[in-house]
Amino acid sequence: MSDMLVKLYELPAIAPVLQRMTAQGIAIRHPQPGDQRAVLSWVKRHFGKGWLPECELAFRTVPAACLIAVRDQTLLGFACYDCTAKNFFGPTGVVESAHGSGIGTALLLTALDRMKQAGYGYAIIGGVGPTAFYAKTVGAVVIEGSSPGIYTEPLTGSREVR
Ligand SMILES: CC(C)(COP(=O)(O)OP(=O)(O)OC[C@H]1O[C@@H](n2cnc3c(N)ncnc32)[C@H](O)[C@@H]1OP(=O)(O)O)[C@@H](O)C(=O)NCCC(=O)NCCS
Repeated sequence: MSDMLVKLYELPAIAPVLQRMTAQGIAIRHPQPGDQRAVLSWVKRHFGKGWLPECELAFRTVPAACLIAVRDQTLLGFACYDCTAKNFFGPTGVVESAHGSGIGTALLLTALDRMKQAGYGYAIIGGVGPTAFYAKTVGAVVIEGSSPGIYTEPLTGSREVR
């Protein structure tokens, strides 16, 4: 899985994307510290525990380095940034029943806008699965030779030196 590069100085307009969310009663916002448990257990339930370390890290800043999509107190999606590494977007996910409603795009554009406001010129989408989604929504291009890139196998236990 390769990384992708996004030009933050050529992002598409965010207003119509957020208007589409408002029309569906969906809020895109940072989670509050008190949302942490609910967000982490939701991510684990829908996407497994592999993304939990990055999601936990997102709550180490205020506001959290994460955005969530919420309708009527129900979580529909999430997106982290500056968690895998500085300047990296992800992980992100939208509940399967809500795919295709524009939520993934709204989370992505809002997070990239936050990164732009923080002073980055480019963003890196880490270890991409759906390259077509990122190419279509924000013009991201694959970074050649970036697989496995910064990713290493996590340590699995505490082995002592004998
Ligand atoms: C990728 C993901 C976040 C997209 O969320 P979404 O809310 O369904 O996306 P949107 O509704 O904003 O889609 C925007 C456009 O991208 C397209 N698109 C969405 N997912 C796509 C995919 N996996 N591959 C190609 N195109 C995709 C949509 O068809 C839509 O096109 P349209 O504007 O012509 O209708 C979602 O599919 C998901 O959670 N996938 C599983 C987790 C995952 O792969 N995360 C990314 C890890 S890098």
